Amino acid sequence: MKNRYAAIIFGLTIMPVSYAQPGSPGMGCQHGMPGMGCGQGMQWRQGAQPAAQAQANQSQPTDRRLFVKMPAEAQQIMRQDMLIHLSTLARILGFLAEGQLNEAADIAEKQMGNSTKGKHRGTGMGPGRFMPQAMKTFGWNMHQAATDFAQIAKTGNVKAAYAALQQVTATCVTCHGVYRIR
Ligand code: HEC
Repeated sequence: MKNRYAAIIFGLTIMPVSYAQPGSPGMGCQHGMPGMGCGQGMQWRQGAQPAAQAQANQSQPTDRRLFVKMPAEAQQIMRQDMLIHLSTLARILGFLAEGQLNEAADIAEKQMGNSTKGKHRGTGMGPGRFMPQAMKTFGWNMHQAATDFAQIAKTGNVKAAYAALQQVTATCVTCHGVYRIR
């Protein structure tokens, strides 16, 4: 796999992820300082498996994703954006299947590309404010991958466009494997 996220995805594939009930005690990093998630300054794999959590939940399924606390409003904005990302992906695939590469490029840039960065800044509730640095980087990687896809799709090379789109979806997988917000 010629993919700069290949190692991470491979890591996630072998990492057992199971899902605990929301709000269960002892679930990792629940401090609320903006921008101070527990992944900060740590390798994400290390942060994803705090020893205390492993001990506390030995008899329960363990969700190893890092909990990122954000206000309800920021959560809502983020989840709304996520639904837009998902529907944008579906629309991009539709355009690619029809050979409409320019349309695929336009929607990718408008909905997910670098030009969408900071779109909630004015509200003070942009989810990025509440993300630990590593999570922000995953988000920026997604915006960059979408912009790269748009540029490549505009060249008309279908095969290269699919390869670039796979880089976009890889960024979704990476972040989802590491973080949760509830
Ligand atoms: C920066 C990290 C990050 C990136 C990049 C990312 N997501 Fe998410 N996404 C999350 C988190 C965290 C959640 C919330 C998980 C939870 O419920 O705790 C989420 C939730 C979602 C949801 C569920 C929304 C709901 O209604 O609750 C969808 C759908 C989704 N993401 C799609 C995508 C797609 C598609 C991509 C890639 C194009 C993507 N995401 C990229 C972090 C990310």
